[in-house]
Amino acid sequence: MQRVFSGIQPTGVPQLGNYLGAIRNWVRLQDDHDCVFCLVDMHALTVFREPEQLRRDNLAQAACLIASGINPEKHVLYNQSAVSAHARLGWIFNCVVRLGWLNRMTQFKEKAGKDREQHSAGLFVYPALMAADIHTFHATRVPVGEDQKQHLEIANDIAAKFNHDYGVAFFPAIEALIPPSAARVMSLRDGTKKMSKSDPSAQSRIELTDTADDIALKIRKAKSDTEALPSESAGLEGRAEARNLVTIYAAMADQSADDVLGRFGGQGFGPFKSALAELLVEKLAPVADETRRLLEDRTHLEQILRQGAARANAIAEPIVTEAERLVGY
Ligand code: ADP
Ligand code: NA
Repeated sequence: MQRVFSGIQPTGVPQLGNYLGAIRNWVRLQDDHDCVFCLVDMHALTVFREPEQLRRDNLAQAACLIASGINPEKHVLYNQSAVSAHARLGWIFNCVVRLGWLNRMTQFKEKAGKDREQHSAGLFVYPALMAADIHTFHATRVPVGEDQKQHLEIANDIAAKFNHDYGVAFFPAIEALIPPSAARVMSLRDGTKKMSKSDPSAQSRIELTDTADDIALKIRKAKSDTEALPSESAGLEGRAEARNLVTIYAAMADQSADDVLGRFGGQGFGPFKSALAELLVEKLAPVADETRRLLEDRTHLEQILRQGAARANAIAEPIVTEAERLVGY
């Protein structure tokens, strides 16, 4: 079985975009892969976090993943900071990656904006740590969104340079698993911005711990327009908010946008939004209930993560130790 590595930042409560774009695919990958699911708290530190908030987000993230169907008994679920192989291989990769390669990373440019000098060095070398996350498990497949493709390319470049510099074929090539049908979910307040757990407005997203009432209210208030829904997806051109709501419905129902419009085309947003809220409540309320239940027993969650870390360590330690021997430590 091929090994899959997936990382998610514990920087807030997971939202619908995380669920449809990532978590749901991870759950499906468990059937025919050997999976490592990592809460990447070291990456979260690249932007300052209140320590208590980071600890809380970390447990919320773990609870949401388990409630969504990630199985911590059959697969590995743990915190990045609990396995020292990440930091150790990350440092080696910092010394392999070239500044010129890092300078080309578009995500850093987007995140840093104009005041580049004010950001942490950690944010700049993030791609080297991400490469280490994957390679310290000899994982060969990484499910990512389109936005992470460049980081996987640099992870392959770093591994190839390591293999070349030290004259070994030690790190395998990794393949991006970009799910063809992964929905890109946009903000409920602005159809041109992606839904994100770091958006300051909680009204812009459905969180995986929202109650049925929260969900219904957010969908009712979601930005739309005054026209009726078109009867096929071509008619969504130039209507970002309408397209987003149809995309969400289609993804949640495992249907195409045209199927959804075949049913709702010609109607206004009132009945469509009611149906969408009902569908979201039906699918997400059980996840939210289970998440809240898991969060009531913090000790148990921490124990799951500790066991996960022990298993992650058992895989990663021999690999990082060999990498350390190869560089001459
Ligand atoms: P966020 O922006 O919510 O902090 P992350 O950067 O932690 O999300 O991303 C975690 C995973 O969720 C990634 O695989 C990313 O591609 C996916 N993801 C995040 N937001 C969305 C979205 N709005 N639509 C689809 N997938 C998303
Ligand atoms: Na983010």
